Amino acid sequence: MRQTLQRLGLLLACACASLTAYAAPPPVAATPADAAPTEAQRMQWFADAKFGIFIHYGIYAVDGIDESWSFFDGYVSYDHYMQQLKGFTAANYHPQAWADLIRESGARYAVLTAKHHDGVALWDTRQGLNVVKDTPARRDLVGPFVQALRKDGIKVGLYFSLIDWSYKDYPGFTRAESRYDAMADPARWARFVKYYQGQLRDLSQRYNPDLYWFDGDWEHGAEAWHARQDREMLLARNPMAIINSRLAGYGDYATPEQGVPITPPPQKYWELCMTMNNSWGWQPNDHHFKSANQLIRILADTIGMGGNLLLDIGPRADGAIPGQEVDTLREIGRWTHKNAEAIYGTQAGIPRDYYAGSSTLSKDGSTLYLFVDGRPGGPVLVKGLMNRVLHARVVGNGTTLDTQVVGKPYWSKVPGLLYITVPPAALDPEVTVLALTLDGPAQLFHDEVKPIESN
Ligand code: GLC
Repeated sequence: MRQTLQRLGLLLACACASLTAYAAPPPVAATPADAAPTEAQRMQWFADAKFGIFIHYGIYAVDGIDESWSFFDGYVSYDHYMQQLKGFTAANYHPQAWADLIRESGARYAVLTAKHHDGVALWDTRQGLNVVKDTPARRDLVGPFVQALRKDGIKVGLYFSLIDWSYKDYPGFTRAESRYDAMADPARWARFVKYYQGQLRDLSQRYNPDLYWFDGDWEHGAEAWHARQDREMLLARNPMAIINSRLAGYGDYATPEQGVPITPPPQKYWELCMTMNNSWGWQPNDHHFKSANQLIRILADTIGMGGNLLLDIGPRADGAIPGQEVDTLREIGRWTHKNAEAIYGTQAGIPRDYYAGSSTLSKDGSTLYLFVDGRPGGPVLVKGLMNRVLHARVVGNGTTLDTQVVGKPYWSKVPGLLYITVPPAALDPEVTVLALTLDGPAQLFHDEVKPIESN
């Protein structure tokens, strides 16, 4: 929200996929055992996963107020905010139930806030505030969750805030008050860097996550943070680890926040992070929940543009996930399981000039998946598809569909209009997915200036 300006840059440019390049890229050559993995090898599982769950769990759930920002922005005093430490019990923290729910939703990875800007870590850090030493929870809340995720075959992501507004050697404290100027006191700043890098090293050594989700890089530059060093340290520990963009230019993928992009972001890899209501953490007064239908459509939209969706949940202070969030995740799960083949391991679909909705393509480009919202008013239309459709069906349902091509004179290269009739009984209550098996990788027609004369 507050960093919209910095992040807007991610969304401004529009790069449409090259219109005919829907065949699979050449297989990634195996690298010798001692060579670092290629970007494509490292990013493969992430690109295939499409859907992840973000978890904002922290002391801010005790009063149900904004995570960290509530004291930074002066809505409550720092002392008032930190009173919440006393109420953070984690008495109903059941990491396996979290992991099982995440699996049920169809998400293939999860990202837990190991430390937010308030500096309260969810594991037993040597220095700084943490829930083991400073709250009645008195236990590590990262390790058991990491274990539970791994048991369920879900990739592990840990959120780590570079900013630590609580630490004595961190310059920033609140919007109105800072401790000191990092440039003017490099020795003190160096102490902070040593502290936070120690925590990061500890996280990597204890839990070895598959993904690091940094946040807060906007308060200092790459050099001051020693961002390159962070990246090198984490990749030395795990050469396959993935790092999000918020490490001052040393990340692997872009992280647009809250706003569904209208056109695909220019970066090859990206992930839209989004709250279920308007809050990252649990806030009992925030009833602005998106419906399962809206979220399914957002997921379809996002993957149709080649991105991932990281959908946030906010457990209560005791660790229970609010009922409404559980219900929504289950509803999403019904849909993701039914339509798995159109979601996981796919690539961005065809531009909306060709199909007026979201779509994806199988890795080899020869199956086109069309996402149909609600109840279509008539046959579904695809324009400019050069391929022959060998078979059309409803995903997760098996119904074979009738297709018809009109407006294709035998002497013209124009492929005509492809109509697909979907019987109402085959419709999904949320979003129906149609699969078109093509005679090869999808190829799209480009308008020529003089359609008649050129034929
Ligand atoms: C913003 C907020 C932070 C939240 C994050 C999630 O950076 O500052 O509170 O955790 O978004 O993307």
